[in-house]
Amino acid sequence: MKIKIRQEKQSDFNEVFDLIKKAFITEKYKEPEEQLLVERLRKSNAFIPELSLVAEVENKIVGHILLTKLKIKNGQEEFGSLALAPVSVIPEYQGNGIGGQLIKNAHKIAIELGYESVVLLGHENYYPRFGYKQADTFRIELPFDVPKENCMAIELVHGGLKNVSGTVEYPKEFND
Ligand SMILES: CC(C)(COP(=O)(O)OP(=O)(O)OC[C@H]1O[C@@H](n2cnc3c(N)ncnc32)[C@H](O)[C@@H]1OP(=O)(O)O)[C@@H](O)C(=O)NCCC(=O)NCCS
Repeated sequence: MKIKIRQEKQSDFNEVFDLIKKAFITEKYKEPEEQLLVERLRKSNAFIPELSLVAEVENKIVGHILLTKLKIKNGQEEFGSLALAPVSVIPEYQGNGIGGQLIKNAHKIAIELGYESVVLLGHENYYPRFGYKQADTFRIELPFDVPKENCMAIELVHGGLKNVSGTVEYPKEFND
């Protein structure tokens, strides 16, 4: 399967909306909201256009990933990082490495843009293969009451979280 990863364009927004909705319709997420989160984030200060990527197969958009700016706060100290949320692949195309390619490409671009780490809330069996570790190993906490194995972070560059610790503050659009 030939997969092309590229930056999302404005003309993709409707197709991306539909694909995120489809990806998240499961038993667990009966009324998915993730496509609405992406719409809010695109209009926010946290948005980085280069880090909203789509995956195409035969000119059809089948996957999407978004990384947005967040802060890690520790008292008076504040560190910049990125939130990975969400990543979505249409059910018929899942299991072909598309999610993995989206994540790896997003990491590469984030490094080029000067970012040093990414934080996410996700499946503990999926993200470690890309280098994610439990966030508390970096002394980072997420502001949610969720199992700690689902709170993960990655150093995009060596020592990217060495002098960073604290609680993640997501852009307010995550709470709307
Ligand atoms: C998670 C998701 C983006 C992965 O995309 P993908 O293209 O299917 O992933 P890849 O082909 O790169 O990797 C497939 C692997 O991921 C695993 N995987 C996929 N979804 C998973 C999940 N929800 N939990 C744990 N592992 C999962 C598969 O079991 C497979 O593992 P294997 O390689 O050991 O067999 C996709 O399944 C999806 O859109 N899911 C619904 C939306 C979602 O839950 N997004 C993540 C939350 S932000």
